[in-house]
Amino acid sequence: MLARGVISATLRSAFQSPTSKYSISDGDLESRGFLFRRTISGLNLDHLNSVFVAVGFPRRDPEKIKLALEHTDSLLWVEYSKTQKPVAFARATGDGVFNAIIWDVVVDPSFQGIGLGKAVMERLMEDLLQRGICNIALYSEPRVLGFYRPLGFVADPDGIRGMVYSRKQRKKNTNCRGLHKANH
Ligand SMILES: CC(C)(COP(=O)(O)OP(=O)(O)OC[C@H]1O[C@@H](n2cnc3c(N)ncnc32)[C@H](O)[C@@H]1OP(=O)(O)O)[C@@H](O)C(=O)NCCC(=O)NCCS
Repeated sequence: MLARGVISATLRSAFQSPTSKYSISDGDLESRGFLFRRTISGLNLDHLNSVFVAVGFPRRDPEKIKLALEHTDSLLWVEYSKTQKPVAFARATGDGVFNAIIWDVVVDPSFQGIGLGKAVMERLMEDLLQRGICNIALYSEPRVLGFYRPLGFVADPDGIRGMVYSRKQRKKNTNCRGLHKANH
C-alpha cells in the first residue's frame, strides 16, 4: 500500500523549458487574484494550519510548523489577494544537491479543481530541477496518484519500493495522512 504511494520524478525533460511548460501562467493567475509566494514572509501559519485541517490533515503545533518550514529547501504558496490568505501550498526538503522529498501539497477545498495544485507543483518541480536536484520523491495517497502522474511521477520506478519506519502501534498509519499524523 505504502510502496504504491512512494513515487519519484525523473522526467527532467518535462520541465526543461521553464515558463512555456506551465499550464497556467503567473500573469493569468495574478489576474484572477492568485499570487505566488516563495518565502514564509507574510505566511500566516494559523491560516496555513486551517488549510491543512480543511483537507483532512491534523492540526499541527504552529511552532513546529515554523521550525519545519525553516528547515525546508523550497516552498511555494499561493496567496488569494482578496483575503490575503494562503489557498495552496507545497514544500520540499532535501540535501540541496541530489535528493528532495515533497511534502504538504494542499489546496483549500474552496479553490480545488481550478489548476492551483498543478500550478504549485509545476513551479516547485522547476525550482528543484533548475538547481540540479533530479531525485525527487513524494508520498501519495492512492486517490491522488492520478494527480501526480501527469506531472512526471511514477510509482515504484524500476521496481524500487519505498519503506518507512513504522512503530508497532501505528502499523495502520502508512498512508499520506498517517505520515502527517506521525509527524504531528
Ligand atoms: C490533490 C490536490 C493538491 C489537487 O489540487 P487541485 O488544485 O484540486 O488540482 P488541479 O485543479 O490543479 O488539477 C490538476 C489536474 O489534476 C487532476 N486531478 C486533481 N486531483 C486529482 C485526483 N485526486 N486524482 C486524479 N486527478 C486529479 C485534475 O483533474 C486536473 O487535470 P487536468 O490537468 O487534466 O485538467 C488537492 O485536491 C488537495 O489539496 N487535496 C487534499 C490534500 C491531498 O490529498 N494532498 C496530497 C497529499 S498525498
